[in-house]
Amino acid sequence: MGFSTDAIHAGQTPDPTTGAVITPIYQTSTYAQYELGKSTGFEYARTHNLTRQSLEKNIAALEKGKYGIAFASGLAATHALMSLVKAGDHIVISNNVYGGTYRLYELNMKNYGLDFTWVDSTDLNNIQDAIRPNTKIIYVETPTNPMLNITDLKGVAAIAKKNNLISVCDNTFMSPYFQNPLTFGIDIVIHSTTKYLNGHSDIIGGILITSDEKIYERLRYIQNAAGGVPSPFDCWLVLRSTKTLAVRMKQHEENAKQFAKFLNDSGYAKRVIYPGLKNHPQHELAKKQMRGFGGMVSADFGTIENAKKVLNGVKLFTLAESLGGVESLISHPASMTHASVPKVEREKMGLTESLVRFSIGIEDIEDLIADVEQALM
Ligand SMILES: Cc1ncc(COP(=O)(O)O)c(C=O)c1O
Repeated sequence: MGFSTDAIHAGQTPDPTTGAVITPIYQTSTYAQYELGKSTGFEYARTHNLTRQSLEKNIAALEKGKYGIAFASGLAATHALMSLVKAGDHIVISNNVYGGTYRLYELNMKNYGLDFTWVDSTDLNNIQDAIRPNTKIIYVETPTNPMLNITDLKGVAAIAKKNNLISVCDNTFMSPYFQNPLTFGIDIVIHSTTKYLNGHSDIIGGILITSDEKIYERLRYIQNAAGGVPSPFDCWLVLRSTKTLAVRMKQHEENAKQFAKFLNDSGYAKRVIYPGLKNHPQHELAKKQMRGFGGMVSADFGTIENAKKVLNGVKLFTLAESLGGVESLISHPASMTHASVPKVEREKMGLTESLVRFSIGIEDIEDLIADVEQALM
């Protein structure tokens, strides 16, 4: 089936009792059992919930995977991944991931005997060189938040296979509409469903997708054992939202292309970063492994004063954390999403005090451009 057909139908069948076309919100904590030892297969809602199951099947289909395991947030999913390793193990990870991923792994999970090497994964040699006898996972985010660096997914999968490692890709920025890491041989995809998959800035959620049965069983076990599950209502909202993912992503991208071109041509910014611009260092790789360039644009305005002028001067863009919603947001990664990353590490990757991140929504592009122009005048 095509992407939009799967988005609207996968994982969903009319409710057998009433024929309701839309999957109901199964707002229950427990299920009646027929007799001792005989149940419907649904026993307790941390373990089984039909609204959650529908969402998991739906997003798994969009990511071309067999299994989805949903969590209460993107970071709960990021945390659950570490149940695949144990104390003494080592993980090689992109140095420019979401700041909360850095905070969780480097500042917390390290206390449990895990070790992380942070590498610039745009150069596959850096990944290869970081592998040790105790390495178990290669974790990449592509494009990264907020520098939009792109890592060669086929290359990562090949290194992982050769060294018998599990490969993981955070696909939040592209959404399954523009990129399917599993099709390049990556073992696990992670999403913050808070972002494009839900797309309306009204829930927090996460999901892991894999086609590997052993990995799936371990992650499903941990989902139940640790219990970081999303509410039925939040699952229902994301399930409603994936139906329009294709149309939303097309518009996010159309607007972002025009916005990046405007900013690049205007000379307002010292550097504009967007994978769709020819001057993006991995533009060719982006064209190869992504079906589009997405809705995120970052720009370095040269000085913190200039950055503040945009951040404080916009009226239509909202100054806020998060991304991927239908409304445009603007943020300052150094003090907001990436405040947990030490300044020296941030600056090494170009994440300066003057960098501004734009999440381009689906409003009229003329209004978005006019908003930034009036802020900079
Ligand atoms: C790329 C990426 N991955 C993971 C997360 C974490 O997701 P959540 O905020 O849903 O916990 C975020 C949040 O901004 C993100 O941008």
